[in-house]
Amino acid sequence: MKKDLKDLLIDELHDILSSEEQIVEALPEMVKASESPDLKKAFESHLKETKGQIQRLEKVFKLLKTEKKEKFCKATKGLIDECKEVLKDLKTKSALRDAALISKAQRIEHYEISAYGTVRTYASELDLNAVADLLQATLEEEGNADKKLTKIAEGGLLKTGINLQANLLKAPKKINKTKTSTVKRKSLAKK
Ligand SMILES: [Fe+2]
Repeated sequence: MKKDLKDLLIDELHDILSSEEQIVEALPEMVKASESPDLKKAFESHLKETKGQIQRLEKVFKLLKTEKKEKFCKATKGLIDECKEVLKDLKTKSALRDAALISKAQRIEHYEISAYGTVRTYASELDLNAVADLLQATLEEEGNADKKLTKIAEGGLLKTGINLQANLLKAPKKINKTKTSTVKRKSLAKK
């Protein structure tokens, strides 16, 4: 049973460790499943980062003089299961599948951002500044990983985003419809 804020911090940290371990296992499949080279690279670099985040957590446990204990993060399992559902639903590589993978990956990022934000705040409240700094470093990495995914999805001045590429898969029909309706409107106007 947790009796104070430090106990709660330690419990949350074990939950986060389980989360990171599950993400390290899941990311190679996300790398393989992505069509876009940018997305592949983003998942690959986040895999590297996540391994570093686990090492950071180990340092945190040392600073807190706490043994690692078994805890399983059920929420992360659910989020990863949703990624696997994407691959079941969309069996081949495409911009649409990439868009769906980004959506699921960003849910994981947001979950992690919320978790690290909380533990970093608990550590600051407890005046555990070295712990708070380590957690802040990971929080920033998670935030950057999330922003990178948004950029890949939305594109920029020089690059087409994955969302637009996914939408273009259906564009020819849309263009035809617009043309027909314009022609119809013009001919109606003549009458
Ligand atoms: Fe992470």
